[in-house]
Parts: sequence; structure tokens; C-alpha cells
Amino acid sequence: MDFHADPGFAGIERFESKLWLASPTMHGEEKKWVDDAIVTNWVSTVGENINETEKKMAEYVGCKYAVGLSCCTAALHMAIKLAGEKLYGQARPSEGTLAGRKVFCSDLTFDASVNPVAYEDGEAVFIDTEKDTWNMDPAALEKAFELYPDVKLVVVAHLYGTPAKMDEIRKICEKHGASIVEDAAESLGAKYFSGGEWKETGSLGDYNAISFNGNKIITGSSGGMFLTNSREDAEKVRKWSTQSREAAPWYQHEEVGYNYRMSNIVAGVVRGQIPFLDEHIARKKAIWERYKEGFKGLPVSMNPYDSKKSIPNFWLSCIIIDEDAMAPHVRGDKDELWKKTSGKSSPGEILEALAAFNAEGRPIWKPMHMQPIYCENAFVTVEGNGRGRTNAYIEGGGIDVGADIFRRGLCLPSDIKMTAEQQDRVIEIVKRCFA
Ligand SMILES: Cc1ncc(COP(=O)(O)O)c(C=O)c1O
Repeated sequence: MDFHADPGFAGIERFESKLWLASPTMHGEEKKWVDDAIVTNWVSTVGENINETEKKMAEYVGCKYAVGLSCCTAALHMAIKLAGEKLYGQARPSEGTLAGRKVFCSDLTFDASVNPVAYEDGEAVFIDTEKDTWNMDPAALEKAFELYPDVKLVVVAHLYGTPAKMDEIRKICEKHGASIVEDAAESLGAKYFSGGEWKETGSLGDYNAISFNGNKIITGSSGGMFLTNSREDAEKVRKWSTQSREAAPWYQHEEVGYNYRMSNIVAGVVRGQIPFLDEHIARKKAIWERYKEGFKGLPVSMNPYDSKKSIPNFWLSCIIIDEDAMAPHVRGDKDELWKKTSGKSSPGEILEALAAFNAEGRPIWKPMHMQPIYCENAFVTVEGNGRGRTNAYIEGGGIDVGADIFRRGLCLPSDIKMTAEQQDRVIEIVKRCFA
């Protein structure tokens, strides 16, 4: 559809430079630390930027130890491997620590949360989503333990910077003797009220991971971190991530190694960003609130959070369209068709309209149980087994909260460099889609 020729969008100007979903925001301090690394010749995977970044992030998140890595995917791999080794013992070099084991995983997340389970030869079982925070549903997790009582590991992500219901999840895990890997890639700086105090995401699991990917709340261009209160775990991850060298004068190896360590250049960028983390969060929050206000009267809601138990970092602002305001639309594996319908809209229409005006939105992350690569993995909802629920003779297909959020939701431009005027234009474009 040609949105510019459509009288329904008359008077709206195309953004001259692209409005991004979430792009890096540099402040100048980053350059100082990158230059410092170059001038002092610490252009390697050791150096003061790494030491300082680890120290500062451990302090901020409230964990005793932080290990800087090349990305959060690496941190999650190390976390999941470590958990697997502790639960099931050391694996042979050719086999993952989770061979033949199931792991419960958030379903509505980015695939980097769960791929490390496959790296370790494990099998992810996806747990459906609850509507209050769009994260792992504790009731579905409880059902999963009924179906698979032997499972001892749970991977939980905090979607779009909104903390999951960690107290409930932790309680269920404790009951079943399971450990938690916390994927706080999107939620650095988000807080959760637990045990009478506010705690940071990234400190709530038994093994925790954060990300400094270019689109995250602060960035190093890339980079990630493993966070823990266990000195032994930190030392193990440090060893594995630097090729598993033993204390010998030559290269001596007793375990499989990885080249996962953070670079001192990347750490310089992160070091320069850390002082601005709280400011970034405040700006993200203002964006979320401006959208909420701007969409009043429209048949949409913002991505929700529990205001008593959590303070998100508001990394991405999203909306979900009311069911009765959904225009007809269909999605294939790689494409989408939607129909212009008066008073209604669809994620496809809104995303196309935004793109036509040079603004970047994105569909909600497609749930893992719907991904072709994981379509044979088990999926558990509040009703129990989420697979094979349809019946030719009975109407209805069962509850699938994640699929519903994917169908009706979308992520909006959430870049902190977006001005109020630009955001108002985004709001106007969304409104016109419902005209
Ligand atoms: C939920 C989630 N987990 C893990 C990752 C992986 O992080 P990284 O890109 O630092 O490897 C990302 C994003 O990239 C993410 O959004």
C-alpha cells in the first residue's frame, strides 16, 4: 500500500533520517577509554577496561563477580554449560553437558536465550507466557514439572526489559530442586522487589547473563557478562572462555575451551556507557509513558508490568491491539497479508506504515515453540501439554498466550535519541492506521 498517497495519512511527513527501534547512544566518554586502551597498547582480551567494567557491573547488579565475555550468548552458553556440569557431571569433549536432558525455557524470547541449551546437546521445553509481564508463566512452569518431574534447569528471560515473576518461579524451582539461568540481556537496570528489598535483574538467578549488544540499554558495540556470587563459578567461566588453559608452562588442556573473552576495546565502550545507564533508563521510561498517554482512546495497550514488584528498564515500548480491533491478517513463515479495515488495524499494517515514513518497528519476538527449528520440542501451557490440542470434532485450539501476543502485538521505535515531536508523529501514524 502507498501510505503517502493515502488521504488517511495526509499531512504526515516522512522522517528525514531513520527513526530506529533502539540504536547505540554514545556520550564521548567511551572514546576516552577506547583511546586509553590503544595508547597503552592493551588491545587484547586483557586490560584495565575489562577489569573496571567487570567491577562496576558487579557493583551495579549486586553480584560478587562478573566475567566479561564477547556477547551475552556466550555468557548464556557458559551459564548453561556450568549448570549442566554441576547437575549431570563433566561431559566428554564431543558431547554437551545436557545430552539427553530436558531444560525448561522461556518461550517468548529471542532465540539466543535458548540456543545454548542446544549447544550443550540439551532439549528445550518451552513454557508459555503470562499476560501480566509477557514472561514465563509460573502456572505453566508448575504444569511442566508435573509432566517432566526430572527436569533440573530453567532458563528465564525478562522480555523487553520487564522483570518476570521471579519469586513465583524461584519458589517452584526450589520445590523441584531446579537451578535458574537468568537471561537479563534485555533488562539491565530493571529492578525486582523480593525478600523485602529491590534487586537488580542479573542477580536473580543461580547463573546470570547480561548483554552489551548494539541495540541494548547500554552497549559496547557487542559484549556480554556472566554474573555470579560464586568465586568458583566465576573462575571456571574465566577459564573456559580463555581456551581452558591449565596452569602449565605450555598449552595444557583438560577441558574443552572457548574463545569467548571480552575485548579491552569493547570494554572501553562499555566503561564509558556505564555512567549513563540510569539516564538511558529514564529516557526509555519517558518514551513508554508518552506512548501510553498518546494512545489513550485507541484500542491498544502498552507492554505490561507489575508496578508493585518491578521497575522495568523500558528497553522497548510495545503495544498489543485489542482482539475486537484486529483487522483480518494472515502470516506465513516469511510474509504477511493484512486488510485495511475501518476502525481496526493489525501489526502488519502498522509496521508497514511506520516503515513507509522511515521509522523502524518490529513484530513481537516470534515464540520459540512456533519456530521451525524448535517445532518438534515440547511446549507447556497452563493447560498442560501445549502440542496437539486441536481436534477436528471440537472447536477451539487451547490457550497459547505467547502466540496471541505475537499475533496482536508489535514493538515501536524506542530509540532514546527520538525527540518528543518525532514520537508524536509515530503516535499519529499508529492512530491513522485505526481510522
Ligand atoms: C533475550 C536475549 N537473550 C540473549 C541475547 C543475546 O545477546 P548478545 O547479542 O549479546 O549475544 C539477546 C539479544 O541479543 C536477547 O535479546
